Amino acid sequence: MARLVIVSNRVAVPDRTKRPGGLEVALRAAFKRHPGVWFGWSGRVARKRSDVLTQRIERDCITYIVTDLADEDFQEFYNGFANRVLWPILHYRVDLAEFTRRDLSGYFRVNERFVNELNHILRPDDLIWVHDYHLIPLGRALRQRGHRNRIGFFLHIPFPPPEILTALPNHEQLIPRLTDYDLIAFQTGDDASNCARYLTRECGLHSRDFNFSVGDRVVRIDICPVGIDVENFARLARRAMRASFVREVLDSLSGRAMIIGVDRLDYSKGITYRMEAFDRFLAAHPEWRGKVTYLQITPKTRTEIPEYAQMEEVVNGIAGHINGTYGEAAWTPIRYVNKAHSRTALAGLYRGARVGLVTPLRDGMNLVSKEYVAAQNPDDPGVLILSQFAGAAHEMKDALLVNPYDPEGVGSAISRALSMPLDERQKRHRALLAVLVQNDAPHWADRFLANLQDKKSQPQWGAQPTLSMSESTRSHARMLR
Ligand code: UDP
Ligand code: G6P
Repeated sequence: MARLVIVSNRVAVPDRTKRPGGLEVALRAAFKRHPGVWFGWSGRVARKRSDVLTQRIERDCITYIVTDLADEDFQEFYNGFANRVLWPILHYRVDLAEFTRRDLSGYFRVNERFVNELNHILRPDDLIWVHDYHLIPLGRALRQRGHRNRIGFFLHIPFPPPEILTALPNHEQLIPRLTDYDLIAFQTGDDASNCARYLTRECGLHSRDFNFSVGDRVVRIDICPVGIDVENFARLARRAMRASFVREVLDSLSGRAMIIGVDRLDYSKGITYRMEAFDRFLAAHPEWRGKVTYLQITPKTRTEIPEYAQMEEVVNGIAGHINGTYGEAAWTPIRYVNKAHSRTALAGLYRGARVGLVTPLRDGMNLVSKEYVAAQNPDDPGVLILSQFAGAAHEMKDALLVNPYDPEGVGSAISRALSMPLDERQKRHRALLAVLVQNDAPHWADRFLANLQDKKSQPQWGAQPTLSMSESTRSHARMLR
């Protein structure tokens, strides 16, 4: 079996402080069946370039190779182009993007640096799987160094329509580089179609069934929604009910129903709209006042980026306002916590919550929604309220699907979820669980890797074509799907 080499910005390095995020969680599960090498950022920032270290850690059949970022790289690559330009634009928030040429060049520089390190690691028959928006140009950089391996790319976050993506300055220098991968996979059919439309419209490429011919190679687009390790998570949730932390929280509710939200403090998660919806719910349903507690767990993230720092103040203000308006000496409507919680703690809290409230304004997948369902007691399950704009909504049709921009609609869904009869809750939960089991994390990884190795799209390495705008004929002729 070929060795698997995964490259991602975040690496779930064993025994290091946990920074929660869907990518690390999904990949850790994928490695269970496909051991190999996991390369990426150590999570450390070196003050001087000469202090940058690369470390190798062997653990459980995985070789972790992680490298530090120099401060300048951290600012321009991570805080700059990746998270202040690509993240907002790919989440349809062009209004929040702050583009500078300096950050763009820092982004390319870090991708080149990663490739310098990978040059010492890669073998000719390795399967290479590159992850997420931080590393779009990595495939091209590897090809330029002569690596002819099968290389696949998976985007964990949304891919917007070309009408939005072309607002990204210099998009033509970056996005066409996706075609240096053999397989480009997305969370949903919408994301895949959007990419196909971009390649057709902006690069003049032609395709049949999502197979694009690029020079003498075939580049395939695939839909490959990420899953969770359902069985293990369900087991964790059952056990977690005995954990003292979980018991303490559940006891402190004094019999009140709990609504839970778990999100990084990120504008894409729709936390302010969600709190407003909870406000509308309490206003419209006074009979629930004092009988329900909304626990919002929101670890801080990307704190050096101004939009994230501002959000902190706004969310604090809204939570305080709602608690001030409806709260009583013996009841706090919203418990708002910025601490990151362990997976065990989350699993137990999900299971103890009558409602899982997951209302991102836009999300690649949203693993929290899947974890909430997996954690439920099938005999007495809670209800998932899910944004129609989460990737998970494409699969989880038996959730209460809502428009996160409509606080009254979300407020009504909260009331419906809290009063839903047992048989309807069980029926919905059974259907949701079946979907999760069918496409769990190991299936996700198997499917991606099988497609990456698929002989039908093996390249013929004659001349090595790379695509740039000057070579491409702009064709608006055919929109795909
Ligand atoms: N998570 C965690 N501790 C926390 C908050 C979140 O372990 O305090 C995990 C959560 O269980 C989930 C992941 O972080 O597996 C978040 O993934 P999701 O896809 O929902 O959102 P992302 O943060 O990737 O945008
Ligand atoms: C999302 C992205 C991941 C990222 C995670 C946490 O899941 O798709 O690539 O790792 O958020 O964000 P952070 O900036 O802390 O890595």
